Amino acid sequence: MSKAYSIAVIPGDGTGPEVTREAVKVAEAAARRFGFRLDMTHFDFGAKRYLRTGELLPDSAADELRRFSAILLGAIGHPDVKPGVLEKGILLRLRFDLDQYINLRPVKLFPGVDCPLKNKGPEDIDYVVVRENTGDLYTGVGGFMMKGTPQEVAMQTSVYSRFQVDRCLRYAFELARRRNRKKTLALCGKTNVLTYVYDLWERAFHEMGRKDYPDVKREYYHVDATCMWMVKNPEWFDVIVTGNMFGDIITDLGAITQGGMGIAAGGNINPEGVSMFEPIGGSAPKYEGRNVINPLAAICAAGMMLEALGEQAAAAAVEAAVMNVTGTRLKSLAAGKMGYSTTEVGDLVAERVG
Ligand code: IPM
Ligand code: MN
Repeated sequence: MSKAYSIAVIPGDGTGPEVTREAVKVAEAAARRFGFRLDMTHFDFGAKRYLRTGELLPDSAADELRRFSAILLGAIGHPDVKPGVLEKGILLRLRFDLDQYINLRPVKLFPGVDCPLKNKGPEDIDYVVVRENTGDLYTGVGGFMMKGTPQEVAMQTSVYSRFQVDRCLRYAFELARRRNRKKTLALCGKTNVLTYVYDLWERAFHEMGRKDYPDVKREYYHVDATCMWMVKNPEWFDVIVTGNMFGDIITDLGAITQGGMGIAAGGNINPEGVSMFEPIGGSAPKYEGRNVINPLAAICAAGMMLEALGEQAAAAAVEAAVMNVTGTRLKSLAAGKMGYSTTEVGDLVAERVG
């Protein structure tokens, strides 16, 4: 009897369903080749369901999803819904309710991919950002006073507990050790201004490193400087760990250095529970239904999912297949400029995996 994993698939909005279809195609090709089964269950969470029923997520969603081995997500976001509603009500709610406290975002330049950084190639850009995924400015702590008056006050508070910081740091140290490359963990913060939150991060970082990870080199960068070095000397980085807000921002910068949203994938990880994998770009509504969007980010997300499930050989085969396709086939990673349709790119990768 072969091993079986139950996968919850949430195609979502815009081009989400198109790219998810290709990700599923590739994951299934890998499962066939490496002798395991993926049992997929689809969920219709997203804008269409919300516009039809007024419900963002049923209250039972988190409990239902907890029963799966992993979740594969397409994209959430729709031009007819006010910004923030779907993001908070579906994407962030799932991350929080499932306590996916790590947002793992590899920044890796694949062969053949046009890099906007001068004189940088695949050997220079290969690091991982560990973004804390449950705290910071994302907790919703804040409020208005005297709303709508000239004296209006708005507040939004960055919140971190020692527990949240420690579990995130531990994951990042372990990752730096496991990658076994430069064995360097860089903390990205802003200790010169955010003297409470990043003071906590910095103390916890050095305490844990000194005590449990003496083999991992520790570096510290302010977030503004991190951005500069990600452009000028990306080869310095191995693993970067940071809070939720800075992690959100620097990973878009990282994504563009690896060829953009067409290729950037991420995992919302609960190491003790169920994790959710997604292309980090949005729902790209202007390309919806045209079969021109790049599915590689979703395919890479499926690769990360296989890795997290423990199917390392299958994950490596997906990455090798994607690299072969970027290196030898695609004209560009941009929607409509790949030289192939969305489905054809999925086929090219699937053939190479299977
Ligand atoms: C991301 C996105 C989300 C975030 C939005 C859509 C809520 O930008 O996954 O990076 O800020 O985390
Ligand atoms: Mn983002």
